[in-house]
Amino acid sequence: MSSYDVAVIGSGPGGYVAAIRCAQLGMKTAIVEKYATLGGTCLNVGCIPSKALLDSSHHYEDAIKHFDTHGIEIPGEVKVNLEKMISRKQAVVDQTTGGIDFLMKKNKIDVFQGIGSFKDATNINITKEDGKTETIEAKNTIIATGSKPSSLPFIKIDKERVITSTEALKLKEVPKHMIVIGGGVIGLELGQVYKRLGAEVTVVEYLDRIIPGMDGACSKELTKVLKKQKIKFALSHKVKSVERNGNEVVVKADNKKGEEVTFTGDYCLVAVGRHAYTDGLNLEAAGIKLEERGRVAVNEHLQTNVSNIYAIGDVIKGAMLAHKAEEEGTLVAEILAGQKPHIDYNLIPGVVYTWPEVAAVGKTEEQLKEAGVAYKVGQFPMRALGRARASMDIDGFVKILADKNTDEVLGVHMVGARVADLISEAVVAMEFRASAEDIARMSHAHPTYAEAVKEAALAATEDRALHI
Ligand code: FAD
Ligand code: NAI
Repeated sequence: MSSYDVAVIGSGPGGYVAAIRCAQLGMKTAIVEKYATLGGTCLNVGCIPSKALLDSSHHYEDAIKHFDTHGIEIPGEVKVNLEKMISRKQAVVDQTTGGIDFLMKKNKIDVFQGIGSFKDATNINITKEDGKTETIEAKNTIIATGSKPSSLPFIKIDKERVITSTEALKLKEVPKHMIVIGGGVIGLELGQVYKRLGAEVTVVEYLDRIIPGMDGACSKELTKVLKKQKIKFALSHKVKSVERNGNEVVVKADNKKGEEVTFTGDYCLVAVGRHAYTDGLNLEAAGIKLEERGRVAVNEHLQTNVSNIYAIGDVIKGAMLAHKAEEEGTLVAEILAGQKPHIDYNLIPGVVYTWPEVAAVGKTEEQLKEAGVAYKVGQFPMRALGRARASMDIDGFVKILADKNTDEVLGVHMVGARVADLISEAVVAMEFRASAEDIARMSHAHPTYAEAVKEAALAATEDRALHI
């Protein structure tokens, strides 16, 4: 039987990063993955394929809607070849997951394909597709088994017409009318993909706003822009049934007044969140406890109630984000090596990759109000930037929230072109506990979208933005 210092169960961004860091720190490491490809949700059916389709559909939208304004004429009709678009996406996924195979070899990490389950706290069974089981011994184990799409109790996901994000990434036709249940990240990103490709898209959301966890100003701006793009919204609607009749899907919901509203489409994307995934792990054999909502319970060192077993990523509490899982993978590896790493969860940025993008870090205005913190706001619109006008991406803003007394930046919220990349400046600033004036006094290249960050910081400092 092979013995390891560390066994990692699950090869998503949490698991494979944990494995690499353990190997870098000199630990003999194994990784167990039930699927044939490494990379988990993120690389196979999450971050990477969704961004590939967002990019392809964005090119198409530019070609049919914006090229003409730029003086680019396309003789003949511009058409979508969905099969080709989906196979390009798959090629990107294959290349990326292949990269993880390379990284495992490079770091001398043993990869086991099969379902990992605890025999006890130090032995892990790996059951292969043919039913054969192999057992490995591990001094320490990191559970990184991620999450799966959630649904509503009355919905039957048939994976054909009533689908989750996994199926939405490989549709064979552009829907005529896609009904999206849930105005969160998945619903909006994938809703926008199919809207651009020609589908009618209706987002049915339970709450009174989309992207509910983000700053209210971002929700408002994104709603405005997506409505301009002709995505329809039914907010404050409680879905109560989803029925499939042949190629038709009928969704019934109650609106705020309690009246029944019926939506009829040909596809229904259910995007109401994800839940921790621990099926098949046989946690009981090792005595590992779960907390409410089925997540693996961990302490501040991400250690479970069994001292040599840790858990990271979507399977534990916190934001379900790839970069959060990665930080946690690194943290556990370093703890096992005797170091004292730290994660500031307040500074994990959140991004929605619609266009315009939405990006945020730190506290929202709603959170500051609720906590009774005295704050000031500096906001700058993208449309006032030369760079934004040159590319015609004028929607959105940068909003900086700073402490009223100390000027320390407490939160940064952005909507606009390329803000997914711009948010890193805010993360760096906040890691170093910058004041709004610190950002305002730094030179930002002209013409760039980053100038909006400087201008918002100027506005927060003394209400002295220069270009508005
Ligand atoms: P996962 O990536 O879920 O990996 C867990 C792995 O464990 C899987 O490969 C699974 O097969 C394996 N596994 C489970 N049980 C066992 C077992 N018993 N034995 C062996 N293997 C097992 N996040 C972002 O930050 N940015 C994005 O742009 C983004 N886009 C997304 C788009 C979509 C459509 C979706 C669905 C998610 C997206 N996410 C995004 C979220 C992101 O994918 C997750 O937060 C991230 O993958 C979590 O990483 P993880 O390592 O915890 O788990
Ligand atoms: P989500 O939590 O972002 O959004 C779910 C939405 O569904 C919420 O707005 C919620 O109010 C709504 N909802 C819940 N129950 C409902 C009901 N009964 N009827 C109508 N609406 C209802 O979850 P989503 O979009 O499914 O994504 C899952 C996870 O994947 C997220 O937590 C996110 O962290 C991650 N993800 C991250 C991405 C990114 O970083 N860009 C992209 C895609 C996913």
